[in-house]
Amino acid sequence: MLSFEQAFFRPAEGRVRAPGRVNLIGEHTDYNDGFVLPIAIERQVAASYAGRDDGVIQFRSAQRPETITVRVGDEHKPLAGSWGNYPVGVVVELKKAGLKLRGGDVLFDSDVPLGGGLSSSAALEVATALALMAMAGQSHAIAGRELALLCQRAENLFAGAPCGIMDQSIAVLGKKGSALLLDCRSGVTRHVPFADPGIVLLVADTQVKHDIGEGGYPLRRRQCHEAAAKLGVKALRDVAPQQARQAIDSGVISGDLAKRVRHVVGEIARTLEAVEAMERRDFATFGQLMFQSHQALRDDFEVSCEELDAIVDAARPCKGVLGARMTGGGFGGSAIVLVRADAAEAASRTIQDAFEKRFARRCPIFATSAGDGAGHF
Ligand code: GLA
Repeated sequence: MLSFEQAFFRPAEGRVRAPGRVNLIGEHTDYNDGFVLPIAIERQVAASYAGRDDGVIQFRSAQRPETITVRVGDEHKPLAGSWGNYPVGVVVELKKAGLKLRGGDVLFDSDVPLGGGLSSSAALEVATALALMAMAGQSHAIAGRELALLCQRAENLFAGAPCGIMDQSIAVLGKKGSALLLDCRSGVTRHVPFADPGIVLLVADTQVKHDIGEGGYPLRRRQCHEAAAKLGVKALRDVAPQQARQAIDSGVISGDLAKRVRHVVGEIARTLEAVEAMERRDFATFGQLMFQSHQALRDDFEVSCEELDAIVDAARPCKGVLGARMTGGGFGGSAIVLVRADAAEAASRTIQDAFEKRFARRCPIFATSAGDGAGHF
């Protein structure tokens, strides 16, 4: 593994970290002003840094060959297809926010699988922001929701990916042993305890890569906004389930738009129901809601894929499995499985065998619990 000294020929001055995430439920609801329930996972992007006085910022990654070099005073332009757009996008947004940046060397080291649907890019953005603020001697200048919004802007405006606010929020606000209920309209949050020794959460990576800048995700966003406009509301968050049913039955909304609305409105209700179930430690109900969420994402929102469906289908009949669903934007990435601890190993093996039989390759599975949000080591 590349160390800071090997990369930059001097010792690091500090080290920060930001975690990846899985979303337990509340998918494709964030950009509809709805609710999400993610956890920070125990995989992360770490960033070691040391300041410099010549205004040059160098980003390197232990996982990538190229060095990204910019100057604090530059006008920055995105480079097609470069991972550097995420950290440089953060440079741009911190400058816009009025922060007086200093130069510095930054080495990233990540064990969040890239493109695995676990928000490696949000973790990269948040780690970058913490490192740049620390080098500028203003570690706490921007924090909490403001920091999440700043990193989201970096991704939307500079990296060109039209993501919502979920991933950056959980990377910043995650708390060990808790899931984060986030109201994506108001920004109000509630930490919901999610730590039970009898329950394990498995993450299964299809290794099918999908970039949310590609067609499917932006199209879903547009369809949701179009449906909201037809229904005369600001966002689908404002549509009650009964109202959605009426609009669909009466033909005000039809075809693909009707399916999208059915998913989003149903998913927002499921998320709130799931939080109540989690609060009374009713993981059986929680798991059922996960299965329902997957079904809606597959049939109504149409963002699943064969590999994700295969994992969920293989998980369902396993002893001790309570629920399973795709997590994140979809079209690839990862699925999660909620399973009783004493049945986790057997379920994991069964899922892997079924996956291998069907796709002639292994799907990596790891267990995770809810970890902390970003911070300094
Ligand atoms: C991606 C986006 C998030 C969210 C999810 C779907 O992960 O980055 O903002 O929209 O998809 O829930």
